[in-house]
Amino acid sequence: MLIPKRVGKVLSGTFLVGSALFTSCNQTVETQIQLIPEPFEMTQSDGMFKVSQAMLVGAGSASNKVNFRVDPNATDIPDEGYQLEIDEAGVRLTAKTETGLFYGKQTLLQLLTPNGLPYVKINDQPRFPYRGLHLDVSRHFFDKEEVKKLMNVMSYYKLNTLHLHLTDAGGWRLQIDKYPKLTQEGAFRTQSDWREWWDNGKDRQYLKEGTEGAYGGYYTKDDIRDMLAYAAEKHITIIPEIEFPAHSDEVFVAYPELCCAGKSHTSGDFCIGNPKTFEFMENVLTEVIELFPSEYIHVGGDECPKIRWEKCPKCQARIKELRLKADKNHTAEQKLQSYIINYAEQFLNGKGRRIIGWEEILEGGLAPNATVMSWRGIEGGIEAVKHKHDAIMTPSLFLYFDYYQTMDTDNEPPAIGGYVPLEKVYSYEPVPQTLTSEEAKYIVGVQANLWTEYIPTYSQVEYMELPRMAALS
Ligand code: ACM
Ligand code: ZN
Repeated sequence: MLIPKRVGKVLSGTFLVGSALFTSCNQTVETQIQLIPEPFEMTQSDGMFKVSQAMLVGAGSASNKVNFRVDPNATDIPDEGYQLEIDEAGVRLTAKTETGLFYGKQTLLQLLTPNGLPYVKINDQPRFPYRGLHLDVSRHFFDKEEVKKLMNVMSYYKLNTLHLHLTDAGGWRLQIDKYPKLTQEGAFRTQSDWREWWDNGKDRQYLKEGTEGAYGGYYTKDDIRDMLAYAAEKHITIIPEIEFPAHSDEVFVAYPELCCAGKSHTSGDFCIGNPKTFEFMENVLTEVIELFPSEYIHVGGDECPKIRWEKCPKCQARIKELRLKADKNHTAEQKLQSYIINYAEQFLNGKGRRIIGWEEILEGGLAPNATVMSWRGIEGGIEAVKHKHDAIMTPSLFLYFDYYQTMDTDNEPPAIGGYVPLEKVYSYEPVPQTLTSEEAKYIVGVQANLWTEYIPTYSQVEYMELPRMAALS
């Protein structure tokens, strides 16, 4: 999906967006078109078509000058693309699919001024099929209405994938019928402020659902269905992430037998020697698949320290049984991680789904069809594509929106650190120059991540996402 971008403008000079008339280079124009993301091809000409928002909303019926059309036989338009023409005759928007039409409408919304729509010819299509935003709802919980608000902004910028980080030590956020204690005991905690709570160390407490003053929450299956229906309207896919084999402290509060020591607050890692771990994974993923239509299911895979496995007799017995041996590239425990991710992949593939994991799933050998999210840098993505695996680029130094966006941190709400200003996001080129054009095809897209350790409210979510989300798109 690598397409060189060509944007042509008939007009020259600098104009301002707005309703007044501005004159430059001997031409009078009413607006300079500034679309985000920039369209693939655009030619602006002089003039405005007078139209009201009402006319656009009722297009196709209320006005014969505004025509929206889905033409499945339009072979010159890619699936997510659209063609838009605005001139004295009216507005003509054509797409091959409903999704393309939807994106054309987003463009119209951005073009609309109080004076109408500028004359323009646009031929648009996205550069990448995967245009993602990630939201961590574990460290702080955001309810379904807040998630919908975020999807509104995403669709305005033509982002098409919301990756929900549903499980982590901060709290388990998804109703699972077979394991009700996950939400009854693992979804609420003593403090809202994640840092304060986390710093309690071994004394940090989860609280039972219904405890007065408890902080937390989770999505019921009906909540998820409601969010999914909304996402479908916005042409957004929601990818659920269930963390394996690490970042799972909250699971062991409810089901301590699933970690090596059999006791909560001892580890965040599943015991790979315990057959119940595999049963848990299959049962949870089964319910996840029943709920989410997304082809991709994210299984985490990041930041597993594996030290518990080194000392756990059950994990070591599993290593022996599988004849996993350390070599110069990988420890036996890394191969054990690879084993459980491979297991998850086979399970998901058997149900017609595909696995995504953070780049650590490369360690110990990549599962055969896995897609890799490169986050520590770009090397994970490069390694994945060299092995003919799809990669999604989400390098922290460019696309971690939990990082500060200014150096003036004294006057900012506390953040996790780092420095990712708007220009940095905008400067990011997702396809490393060292790749051949064949390898580059495996870079399926980009994603910005919002970890919410320091983000307690939805207004702060928006503060961190915007305007960087615009630069991402
Ligand atoms: C990550 O930031 N741990 C994927
Ligand atoms: Zn173990």
